Amino acid sequence: MARRLLLLGGTGRLGRAVLSAAPGWTVEAPGRAELDFATVSADGWKAALEARRPDVVLNCAAHALVDACETDRGGAEAVNATAPGRIAAACAALAVPLLHISTDYAFGGRPGPFVEGDATGPVQHYGVTKVAGEEAVLSSGARASVARISWLFGPTSSAFAGYVLDQVDGSGAPVRVHSRQTSRPTFAPTLVAWLLGVAELLAVGVAVPPILHPAGGPWASRAEWARAILDAAGHTDLAVVDQGDDGVMRAARPLDSRLDGDATMGWSFARGLPPVPNWRELVAYRVAG
Ligand SMILES: NC(=O)c1ccc[n+]([C@@H]2O[C@H](COP(=O)([O-])OP(=O)(O)OC[C@H]3O[C@@H](n4cnc5c(N)ncnc54)[C@H](OP(=O)(O)O)[C@@H]3O)[C@@H](O)[C@H]2O)c1
Repeated sequence: MARRLLLLGGTGRLGRAVLSAAPGWTVEAPGRAELDFATVSADGWKAALEARRPDVVLNCAAHALVDACETDRGGAEAVNATAPGRIAAACAALAVPLLHISTDYAFGGRPGPFVEGDATGPVQHYGVTKVAGEEAVLSSGARASVARISWLFGPTSSAFAGYVLDQVDGSGAPVRVHSRQTSRPTFAPTLVAWLLGVAELLAVGVAVPPILHPAGGPWASRAEWARAILDAAGHTDLAVVDQGDDGVMRAARPLDSRLDGDATMGWSFARGLPPVPNWRELVAYRVAG
């Protein structure tokens, strides 16, 4: 019988990738109208889980608009920190395992790369609230793991590829990006296969590390990632330049939020989970998609 996954955030970039490829799972994905992270109480989350009795909860919901989190600070706190804590408490009460998604923006205040156990150090309110969410989940008593992910791309998932390709207007003008940020792009469909593998282990009671860094392939600066996107799209002649401080970004971005995933990937390999491949080999799929 298919296992039952309660997916939160199914309308988002990552959530849509989960919904488009979850073979072997029966997925229920209530949206914001049914379960609003900003308003559902602790008892409300418990009732929601009692009514559904999933084998595992995958929380992909977040207030993930990094600049908007600076102005909607209370909203970011509610969605990224308070709600995950309440969901985790409900999971603990009903013995339902939880896989919670977090971010490389948990880091950034000092140079990386960062291993799973490193002290966090976010540099903007989004990261502060995501770290608070991680802590609430991990201290809840639930059988829960936090997967920190970075720079998603894929057919349903790439804000950055759109940002780059939207600038290609036929004039030959260089593409402008915040070139100095460094992290690791991650191909959403293969990440989803990996996350569902972890969810399966949680559902059957296998011990999973509390913090996971699913990371495959080399790190890249935004400039290198933009270069790879442009090359894959056939725009090898276009230059990539730094856009500097254009006054658009409200929130600070980490210059270095590189996740070191060696421990997670070693654990993952030993348990036969799907690989998290080198993103460079997959960047063309976003362009094609
Ligand atoms: N995208 C990336 O590159 C990236 C990088 C690192 C980490 N992450 C993390 O990955 C996870 C998924 O991110 P994403 O890119 O998929 O985000 P996204 O595209 O912005 O989607 C956010 C999801 O959260 C839901 N949500 C927001 N506020 C809600 C509320 N009050 N009540 C219920 N649902 C609410 C949204 O629902 P609506 O459709 O109703 O708004 C949507 O389904 C997040 O934890 C994020 O921090 C993402």
